[in-house]
Parts: sequence; structure tokens; C-alpha cells
Amino acid sequence: RILNNLGRGALIVIEGCDRAGKSTQCMKLVDRLEDQGIKARLLKFPGMFRSPSGSRIGQHPDMSFAYQPDRSTSIGQMINAYLTNAKDIEDHAIHLLFSANRWEAMTHLKSLLIAGTTVIIDRYAYSGVAFSAAKGLDLKWCKQPDVGLVTPDLVLFLDLPVEEAEKRGGFGGERYETKAFQKKVRDIFMDLRDRSWKILDARVSIDELHARVLEEVMRTIENSKALQIREDLWK
Ligand code: TMP
Ligand code: MG
Repeated sequence: RILNNLGRGALIVIEGCDRAGKSTQCMKLVDRLEDQGIKARLLKFPGMFRSPSGSRIGQHPDMSFAYQPDRSTSIGQMINAYLTNAKDIEDHAIHLLFSANRWEAMTHLKSLLIAGTTVIIDRYAYSGVAFSAAKGLDLKWCKQPDVGLVTPDLVLFLDLPVEEAEKRGGFGGERYETKAFQKKVRDIFMDLRDRSWKILDARVSIDELHARVLEEVMRTIENSKALQIREDLWK
């Protein structure tokens, strides 16, 4: 506990296509870190997630009840209307809204890291680019609005073949949740890999994947303590 307070928190991003197990792993991870006395918080894009009681998230195996990504800022609400097909928004415009939704969280994010809290984020700018570019928007254009966001110390990409994802109860009814589209998204994710990325095979059991995630995250928390917070994503 005391040692952890000496350094800043680490910024860990969990990415992957829909149904890869991101949300489950994020919640198990935050729970586990807190159990070990490491200060940790979970953020979620789009929107920002907080459990009703505070930072702590329950360990119920079916986490859907506890995990309602609250798309509650005014920008989050526009995004939610778009994703649920209640509203159509032009492709470039929705892209900028997703990016704005990240920018509006940066002050909060930085203050958590400075206070020594490790922040786990369920999706980040990589999702932003992958989904918009999969619709045909120019990749370079897609990256620009997120240039200068806080740079993650680690990006864990939970990799699940789209066929496997489909077997997991199928995709939901939200925009983008189709097999053909998810395949395109995965290809673009692969183009966005950089040295902060680690690709994990998400076909293994929840507990096995959790163990691998935890191993990477513990190492990153240690290594990041003495490093500066960098606000230079894609610079
Ligand atoms: P979610 O299922 O993780 O709540 O995300 C909702 C959808 O939004 C998902 O299909 C991915 C998509 N998305 C974007 O298109 N751009 C973004 O910047 C983000 C964060 C998500
Ligand atoms: Mg979804």
C-alpha cells in the first residue's frame, strides 16, 4: 500500500472486438488489484463507468447487472442514441463525438494517475479509429482528433476470432455488431499495433485470461511508477 503511493498509477487499456471478454476482464482486474491493496479504477469509453457504490465492482459471474456503461455526459448521450440506432449521425461527426468523449475525461484521468491510482480503460482511441476506418473513413484522418491523449503504458488486445465471438451468444443488436464488420475492425486494430501493445489469445477460459492479464498489468504498474505521464498519443 505504502510503496504504491510513491509512484504514479499506470494507464492500462483493454481493447478488442465486441464479445472478446473485455468488460469481464476489466472488472476482474480492478477487483483483484484492489484486493492486493493497489489503488485501481475502471473507466469505459463510450461513457464512464462507476459502480453505484463507488469504485468497487462486484464479483458476480454475470456482471451485466453491475456493469451498465453509463453514457451519461451530454456527448455520451448522443453516442448512445447513435449506437442504439435511435439517431443517425454522419460518420465524421460521430467519430469526433467519440473522441470528444475521451477528451472530456482527460482531466479526471490525469488526476487519478497523479494520485497513484492505476486506471483500467475499457476501449480507447484504438477502438475509435478501428470502427470509423472500417466504415471507410481515411485512417490518417481518423487518428488526428485523438493525437495528444494520455499515452497508455500498456494496451492489452484480447484477440478472439470473429467466429468464436459469434458463438458466445451472438452479437447484440447495436450498430456495428455484425460478423463482416467486426472482421474489418480487427484488421484495422492490427494496423494500429505499437510497442505498448500485447496481444492475448482470448479463446482461453476467463480465469486463465485473467491470470495473463494480471501478470502483464503487475509488471507494467512496477515499470511505470518512475516514468512521467505522457500526453503524446500518436504524436
Ligand atoms: P461498447 O460495446 O464497448 O459499449 O462500445 C460500443 C460500440 O462503440 C462498440 O461497437 C465500439 C464502438 N466504438 C466506436 O465506434 N468508437 C469509439 O471511439 C469507441 C470507444 C467505441
Ligand atoms: Mg457493445
